Amino acid sequence: MRIDVLTLFPEMFESPLAHSIIRRARESNAVEIVLSNIRDFAADNYRKVDDKPYGGGPGMVMMCQPVFDCYESVKAQSTDKPRVIMMTPQGRKFDQQLAKELSREKRLMLIAGRYEGFDERIREGLDAEQISIGDYVLTGGELPAMVVIDAVARLLEGVLGDDASAVDESFSDGLLEYPQYTRPEVYRDMRVPEILLSGDHGKIAQWRKDKSLERTKKWRPDLLDGLPDNKK
Ligand code: ADE
Repeated sequence: MRIDVLTLFPEMFESPLAHSIIRRARESNAVEIVLSNIRDFAADNYRKVDDKPYGGGPGMVMMCQPVFDCYESVKAQSTDKPRVIMMTPQGRKFDQQLAKELSREKRLMLIAGRYEGFDERIREGLDAEQISIGDYVLTGGELPAMVVIDAVARLLEGVLGDDASAVDESFSDGLLEYPQYTRPEVYRDMRVPEILLSGDHGKIAQWRKDKSLERTKKWRPDLLDGLPDNKK
């Protein structure tokens, strides 16, 4: 998959996307992340990319021209048609379901804004979707874009070492993940549940299912609303 990111702060992405699983995903070419600086497309000598809102009000608004020009230049770098997504608090709420959906695309283009927002004609003109990572306002779309990249890239084929690890985790079946333990068997008087040491895989699987349901009921009962009755 190719992910293009249009941003005023490409440096913000460097370290977060250069470690561990995402680094390996990039090195193996499972994902190619291409950062483009919107400011490089500013038309004037001051490299201006934002301006005061028509009608008045606080803050600055991202201008059409640098974003449209950046979009057109980036789009032409590959023949694959990108799914164009603007990061904004007004967007569709990002969740594991949407991460899975995006992981099936060949190419994503994420547009991260700063200031008070984008000129509305950017969304209309680029026919862009909008994604929000939650009901709170951040200082820009860069962190949200990184959240989307991380959640999507780890779902791509070959990225997680053990192919099962994206199957058995929280939200994969609509429930929270069961509790995990590793050595030692006893730590500060706290024991690993006996059943996990039993070697009885059938019983362990049932115990894990029960625990998943139990903790979802306790911590995230809202998740149960979306499940069929035979899973509750
Ligand atoms: N930009 C600012 N806040 C945001 C949010 N919650 N989600 C996506 N983009 C944003």
